[in-house]
Amino acid sequence: MKILGIETSCDETAIAVLEGSGTGYPHLRILADEISTQIEIHREYGGVVPNLAKREHGRNLVPVFLRTLKKIESKTKKTKQIQNSKSEAIKKIFEREDELLKQFEKEILPLEKPDLDVIAVTCGPGLEPALWVGINFARALSLLWDIPLIGVDHMEGHISANFIGEDSEQKIQFPALALTVSGGHTQLVLMPKLLEYKLLGETLDDAAGEAFDKVARLLGLPYPGGPEIARVAQDGKTDAFDFPRPVLTSKDYNFSFSGLKTAVLYTVREMSENELKKKTADLAASFQQAVIDVLISKTLRAAKEFGVKTIVMGGGVAANAELRQQLRQAVEKNIPDSKFQIPDSNLCTDNAAMIAAAGYMHFAQGERSDWKTLTADANKIIAERV
Ligand code: KG4
Ligand code: ZN
Repeated sequence: MKILGIETSCDETAIAVLEGSGTGYPHLRILADEISTQIEIHREYGGVVPNLAKREHGRNLVPVFLRTLKKIESKTKKTKQIQNSKSEAIKKIFEREDELLKQFEKEILPLEKPDLDVIAVTCGPGLEPALWVGINFARALSLLWDIPLIGVDHMEGHISANFIGEDSEQKIQFPALALTVSGGHTQLVLMPKLLEYKLLGETLDDAAGEAFDKVARLLGLPYPGGPEIARVAQDGKTDAFDFPRPVLTSKDYNFSFSGLKTAVLYTVREMSENELKKKTADLAASFQQAVIDVLISKTLRAAKEFGVKTIVMGGGVAANAELRQQLRQAVEKNIPDSKFQIPDSNLCTDNAAMIAAAGYMHFAQGERSDWKTLTADANKIIAERV
């Protein structure tokens, strides 16, 4: 069956179509995976501005959707007039999204129903105004073409990126442990079995990606800071600065990155502009290594305590090449009987394929959402803390 995924929780407008089969371990193949990024727009503000994100999603969703349909070669013939009741309901759905309504009426209403079996959309966590745009778009499509709808947790989406590919059963065995590291979250999630999640720990302050972004700013690097720090760090020494790794000694599975950020701030404050320029690579490398050390140590400890068979990673920071390599080596060395699995880097940063993947797994279990009642939940949590 074909699953449409829609993601608008932050600064990427993303739409994908996956082919899915299987009710236990899924077989998921990407047919189309389109993204329109807003990075350039938010860069001048040094971070994502929620209302600008909402506006851009409203502008970009229809073109990105049409591009996606072209990729799956769906028919785009004109159809007969739609019922008045549907067109009124669609107007109501988009009552706060003028531009999206205009584009929808012009470009989508005349289309014949495409070959899609279910629509999966991110309903949280994320920026509330941004989430609503994707949700309303998904609701209107579901209503227009009578396609079932399912709301997806964004962090579960990051984990689910690991199930994309024909051989998910080979790659992931339970119990599994997921380390999700994004711009808004840093979590260790235990998965006793497919679709079952237990939150072991999370960040007490800044998320890992947020720390990368804030430290990049201190170093004069543009937003988003993660890829910038990773690039600059390649020429730096990881032990040039002895930054703190405070939670290494704590017994729980929580993280804290604000102390590390403050330590970088105090170090940078003492430097002249010239000195900072010379030391940027060393600062970046030492900071990045401190984050990696904390993530690896907590992940290994949880993996050992819960005897997990597979460790998976997801979220934008999981695109970090050093983290990927060092965690892989640490698993191989310390828990050689466990598997290590990460999605390709472009499936770690926000995308809609991962949302379609998570949506498919829930849909295959018989779950559905209602277009009338699906709402945004900016603070959605994947599971209760254990
Ligand atoms: O998952 P994501 O795309 O969006 C959220 O759900 O937040 O994560 C974005 C975060 C940003 O903070 C960005 O700086 C970080 O991921 N990031 C990276 C890298 N690529 C993106 N952090 C470290 N190294 C990278 N290569
Ligand atoms: Zn994300």
